[in-house]
Amino acid sequence: MLEIRNQLNQAISTIREFYKGTPRIGIILGTGLGRIVDSIEIQVEIPYSEIPHFVIPTVEFHTGELIFGNLNNVHVMAMKGRFHTYEGWSMQEITFPVRVMKALGVEVVIVSNAAGGLNPQFRNGDIMLITDHINLLGDNPLIGFNDDELGLRFPDMCDCYPKILRDLAEETALEQNLRIVHGVYVAVQGPNLETAAEYRYLRSIGADAVGMSTVPEVVVAIHSGMKVLGFSIITDMGLPDALTPCTLEDIISIANAADNRMAKLIFALAPKLEKEIYS
Ligand code: HPA
Repeated sequence: MLEIRNQLNQAISTIREFYKGTPRIGIILGTGLGRIVDSIEIQVEIPYSEIPHFVIPTVEFHTGELIFGNLNNVHVMAMKGRFHTYEGWSMQEITFPVRVMKALGVEVVIVSNAAGGLNPQFRNGDIMLITDHINLLGDNPLIGFNDDELGLRFPDMCDCYPKILRDLAEETALEQNLRIVHGVYVAVQGPNLETAAEYRYLRSIGADAVGMSTVPEVVVAIHSGMKVLGFSIITDMGLPDALTPCTLEDIISIANAADNRMAKLIFALAPKLEKEIYS
């Protein structure tokens, strides 16, 4: 049952043929959020299809490459393209790249996603700093045998998105005159968007934004002992009493419009995060 470790070894030895460095920050890019890659001085780009045990995104708006390079003088690795449960992948498949990040030396992960706004004070295009999450996926990547070398059987989740990292993000946003909101992200399976009744329910259980990703990766990052900083771009408002139709094109176009702001924020944040985590 040490299969995951064997899989990791195989993936790492392939990656090591191309890249010898030690990435400091792992970045997972959500729907419509690829711009940050333009700010990375790319050293190596490996298609997921060449890495053992990586699955391949099946949705056309996500590509699939692992990118290694320098972002504002910080060694980073970025996942261009992520996986969702609605594609039919298992939780372990979705989160395998996060295990790879840890195995390569990453200690802090930045996750991003596009999400529906539930908090009526939010607006389309807002960047929400994730303060906490709710897992409504009905599944968990840690179910099954626990490899104690990889993490604890019962990882504590009291501080998934540490305040100290959120404060750094907030301070950086302030320097850039960037509006930033805060809130709880709830993950659902999708792929359909929510009914008005579901948006109302999700708001009533304490969520500020809803999406179909992120939580599995965060659970595994925490299990692996990494720190996490998370951002949602609010791409549509799930206000049950004023719900209007929304398409994937709407979501992508709002995410794209926010992408520059996200990229600038992450660019400025990277050296501060590195300093906070490693010194
Ligand atoms: N619901 C779920 N996932 C989403 C949404 C939404 O309204 N918008 C973007 N991702």
